[in-house]
Amino acid sequence: MSSDPAAAVVAAATSPAPPAARGPAGPSPTSGPVGRPETVAPMRHLLSMADLDAAGIAHVLRVTDSLGEVVRRSIPRVPALRGRTVVSLFAEESTRTRLSFETAARRMSADVLTFSAATSSAKKGESLRDTVETIAAMGVDAFVVRHGAAGAPTQVARWVDAHVVNAGDGWHEHPTQALLDCYTIRQFRAEAEGRTVGTEVGTECFEGLRVAVVGDVRHSRVARSLVIALRTLGARATVVCPGTLVPPSLEGWGVDVCHDLDAVLPEVDVVYLLRLQLERGTGSYLPSAREYSAGFGLTARRAARLAPGAMVMHPGPMNRGVEIADEVADMARSLVLRQVANGVAVRMAVLYLLLAGPDAPDAEELGRSLGVVGA
Ligand code: MLT
Repeated sequence: MSSDPAAAVVAAATSPAPPAARGPAGPSPTSGPVGRPETVAPMRHLLSMADLDAAGIAHVLRVTDSLGEVVRRSIPRVPALRGRTVVSLFAEESTRTRLSFETAARRMSADVLTFSAATSSAKKGESLRDTVETIAAMGVDAFVVRHGAAGAPTQVARWVDAHVVNAGDGWHEHPTQALLDCYTIRQFRAEAEGRTVGTEVGTECFEGLRVAVVGDVRHSRVARSLVIALRTLGARATVVCPGTLVPPSLEGWGVDVCHDLDAVLPEVDVVYLLRLQLERGTGSYLPSAREYSAGFGLTARRAARLAPGAMVMHPGPMNRGVEIADEVADMARSLVLRQVANGVAVRMAVLYLLLAGPDAPDAEELGRSLGVVGA
């Protein structure tokens, strides 16, 4: 077994399931490859990026094109999930992910229940299983789960009949973050070519795309999901970090590793910065935040080494002045707020694909029914 604690908890959490051949994280036991319309079974859960093959990711992005149109309307609401109930069960802090999922559900007219560990019976010692089964008894169609323990959403999927979305579990994965990152890259590339999403844009822009994933890879669920997504779509990822922040499980991720950010910057199409996860003990792997920043922070001087058209991304929350300089965070090539904005439409697409049922319109029909140009 790996010495990576995240991998160990996941292995423990998923141990009764049959082993499956997989990439860095592999498909979760309760969900299969996804991708409508041709080859694709309807989505049951989204627990890992490895639940989606390339066609499945492309399908989510196309549905996002249609639903993104709704978000831009003066009354951004459609009845697609009327009568459905979504619970956001967050046992760990969150600003953007929780609000983004709840907004997404409301934009599609679902009812939203909000669970917060800090103000619930979890405080009185109620177990996760009892909490989840109690909420499920109220009649819930989907659980959106964030938890500090890797594998927790997979366990929840075993306890309830509802659909489950992993909204970040420990160091393990954060699949909807990877999907919104892919959507943002695809959108930016399409616009650079004078095209707009919502027409015939596919996922060909990822073929050979070079992405540097920089920073606290060891503790990052964002990095794990992003690397799976990028590899699935044919992009090339390089992990750039100090030796102490290389995760023990990196073998098998299928990425290059480099410790020299300056050398990598002119070569990449995307530089994706990760937050130092100080709450997960990153401080003990580094001499100081200042020294980290000197070697791996994206300063204005370093950003000037990027190729024209290269993108700067960060999942947030940003430690300005540590992994990203203030002036870089606010540059036109920084897509940080666009990532947040796209998060709502991507999560609408994920909830739609989980909840709308087998007879729901596919991406093209949906786009036409919503009046999306070119659908
Ligand atoms: C996460 O929840 O992992 C965030 O989106 C990224 C971070 O906290 O660094």
